[in-house]
Amino acid sequence: MGVHDMHSRKGMNIKQMKKKVYNVGVKGICNAYLVKGDCNVLIDGVPEHCRSQYFENIKKLVPDMSVDYFICCHAAPDKCSVLQELLDKTNAVVCASAAGLKNISEIINRKFRQRVCKNRSVLSAGGAEFVFFNTPYTPWPDTVIVYEKTEKALFSGELFSGSRNFSEYFSENFKGREKYVSAALDIARGLDINNVYPAKGEAAVFSEVINEYEHLAKPVCVDANKITIVYASNFGCTKAMAECIKNVLLRNGYNAECFDAQSNDISVICEKIYTSCAVAVGTPTCDRKPSQRVWELISKLNVSLVSGKPYFVFGSTGWSGEGVNIASETMKLMRMRRFAAPVTAVFTPSDEELEKLEKYTAKFVRFVSEVQNA
Ligand SMILES: Cc1cc2nc3c(=O)[nH]c(=O)nc-3n(C[C@H](O)[C@H](O)[C@H](O)COP(=O)(O)O)c2cc1C
Repeated sequence: MGVHDMHSRKGMNIKQMKKKVYNVGVKGICNAYLVKGDCNVLIDGVPEHCRSQYFENIKKLVPDMSVDYFICCHAAPDKCSVLQELLDKTNAVVCASAAGLKNISEIINRKFRQRVCKNRSVLSAGGAEFVFFNTPYTPWPDTVIVYEKTEKALFSGELFSGSRNFSEYFSENFKGREKYVSAALDIARGLDINNVYPAKGEAAVFSEVINEYEHLAKPVCVDANKITIVYASNFGCTKAMAECIKNVLLRNGYNAECFDAQSNDISVICEKIYTSCAVAVGTPTCDRKPSQRVWELISKLNVSLVSGKPYFVFGSTGWSGEGVNIASETMKLMRMRRFAAPVTAVFTPSDEELEKLEKYTAKFVRFVSEVQNA
């Protein structure tokens, strides 16, 4: 039976997907699977508010609740907190990666029977044969995907989730982790898979979705000649600094683009930053902090995609000037590569202050090329 043949069993909120595979999750919210046979194996749980439906579904299929194994693809509370109740009702062995088991024990704070899903290890359970693959950062470090040989089924966790609206789901869950997703897809390509059973959204025929997903997992391309300048400015003082920086960068052969964070879409600016080889961020100080909009931008940056990127912070200040330092320190903590302490002007940048800024930016250009040639 293919995934297009799936049907709801009469009177049940359960979908039989394949001979042995049932979806015991909650439609429209999340999937969790039961592989039924001489042994009964659960794959993943559901969030707290779906718990009663989940156990009702299981009970209809396995009235005596003889669940032998619970496999956890990644130890998020919405996948494993059902264990509190499952372990009261059954003697199930919990299977997860070593990191996953550690996380589970911190989430449920109780002792449990366990089995480590080592990479490529096999669990034979009542006629079914599960092979585990460690696929770190898809999306959590502890993630495993699970291949069941007899049904040629891949329980893929967050991979292939999102009911084919993969693009949005991918960017929310895997942005910056493209190389890890690619590695997981390589593993999947090497298996004889009919269907994929994701944690969210519809199951799918593997051959129909793999190419689309591989396309999304292409790494972000950084342009070695592009530098993005982004700023906020209430009275035009920080903006004047941004324009001065842009001119220096252009004179040095860089493709420099300037964006006002107050009038441009923050997500669009983030994308510009990801594909730039360096970035300059400008903020005035407002009530002892950076401008709200620059804060928003910094907090939205994907750490994996800006890690190691050269940057500096600039801005106009009035009397205390904390804004630039707060922004600069935060970006450093986000693993970006700081060029130097922020460069500032007091209120309207004077000719001297602009000259200082030009020199500072010229030095930054040398820093960027050193980083690129290192
Ligand atoms: C609401 C408000 C709060 C401010 N708070 C501070 C502050 O806490 N410390 C400071 O040094 N300057 C403060 N300033 C002054 C601005 O940083 C200063 O006017 C700066 O030149 C503005 O640059 P801009 O034109 O790029 O916005 C404040 C300005 C405004 C409007």
